Amino acid sequence: MLATMSQWLTLSRAAHLLGISRVALQKRIRDGELPSFDGMVAADDLQRAWPELDLDASGSFEKTRAIREDAFARRLRERVLPSQEALAQRLFAQGQELAELQRTLTRYHALFEALEARLAAAPAPAADELRRLLDEGLAKALSAPAPGDDMAALDAMLRVMSAHITVKPSGHEFFVEGSETLLKAALSAGLTPNYGCGNGVCGLCKARVVAGEVRAVSPSDYCFSEAEKAQNHVLMCVCTALSSDLVLEVLEAGAPEDIPEQRIVAKVRRIDALSADVMRLHLQTPRSNRLRFLAGQRVTLGIRAGVADGSDVHGEYPVASCPCDERNLIFHVRRGDRRAASADFSRCVFEDRIKVADDVSVWGPWGSFVLEKNSVRPLVFIAIDEGFAPVNSLIEHAIAVDAAESISLYWASSQPGGQYLPNQCRAWNEALDEFSYLPLAVDDLPAVLAANSALAASDVYLAGVVERVEPLAAELLAAGVPPRQLHVEAF
Ligand code: FES
Repeated sequence: MLATMSQWLTLSRAAHLLGISRVALQKRIRDGELPSFDGMVAADDLQRAWPELDLDASGSFEKTRAIREDAFARRLRERVLPSQEALAQRLFAQGQELAELQRTLTRYHALFEALEARLAAAPAPAADELRRLLDEGLAKALSAPAPGDDMAALDAMLRVMSAHITVKPSGHEFFVEGSETLLKAALSAGLTPNYGCGNGVCGLCKARVVAGEVRAVSPSDYCFSEAEKAQNHVLMCVCTALSSDLVLEVLEAGAPEDIPEQRIVAKVRRIDALSADVMRLHLQTPRSNRLRFLAGQRVTLGIRAGVADGSDVHGEYPVASCPCDERNLIFHVRRGDRRAASADFSRCVFEDRIKVADDVSVWGPWGSFVLEKNSVRPLVFIAIDEGFAPVNSLIEHAIAVDAAESISLYWASSQPGGQYLPNQCRAWNEALDEFSYLPLAVDDLPAVLAANSALAASDVYLAGVVERVEPLAAELLAAGVPPRQLHVEAF
């Protein structure tokens, strides 16, 4: 029945509604504190499991209330609020659901009245007993609101404000807020859809609409074939969701070999010192030519005339930012890079021979230091010195995907206080329930890891200079970490 169905929520929608991670929700289910059926939870069970939850204080409610307030900045409102067309479509769909519900209730009401009339004419005492049961049941149903009523009302409101997308064949899910494009929302949620230009030219972000409707939010000259048109193909980079529930068939990269080698020219946006020995190099790709890579992968950077003889200078670096960060690519460059191939590039950065707005060629991506697909094991990251760069990208991605039960970060430094982004790690630690962070000296690392009995049941990601990483990897294997769960990036 519609009245019952409307109070069941998928896990991702329930997590979105409560403003909590899906992992936190799954933990309550595993611990037996929240019943679930076929991947769904009931709104009233949800409210019982979170009695302390103040709906007014949940992020989602805040967002929708803020949208309603006139004082809310126009720019932000345009970004968060869906278009008039999307709002109208979603309200219309909800109106149809309500009308159907009303029709159903009217039929039940008529049935109930007919039953009452028959009972009135029926002989007592059996009829009296039945009538009393019916009256009591009706009074109960119409009295105090059920525990899940608030939750169901909030869900109905959020279904209008944001669209829920299910991806086939992977089963991944994400939400589209306001009029953001399907591509941007998918990348922000940690998905790895196929794409290229990001502005409706190359056609690489093609997806098939299996159910629901989309709307173009920017123009595109890309020409679909007649067969593609007939099969409802759209470009994710220029379309947003019109319906509140959309099912898309999307080509996603599952492994490094699914990502093609690319060569693009990016511009230096900023260079700043993270410590006396580490510089942050921030590049921005052109709007029409972005770099597609998986979190944890490396690229080759090249600049022209970086040295006195005017020849090209190259360096190979892991991308420290998340692929969900659109056009921004961040690198951590160490002073006096001992790797011969990157030493000149490092010198150019530290000697101010690369400036803001300079061109830098980016070639790649390389490497297979990426999150294991579909694993839900706890994640343990071990970064040694600037091995933190690829680990940073992996952690941001893992947080966006929201699939791991817990995340532990050990950042070991060869110099006292060498953890050059301590505030960021502390912020993760404070903001995420299942996140732990331990800064430590590199010599203390073996003993600390030996005391962690959960390593063998975790996916372990280890990154840093080869001299430190290789012996540690051997120790981890000897301690029982299965080889396929140990991922190593040594430079
Ligand atoms: S058309 Fe190129 S990424 Fe969408």
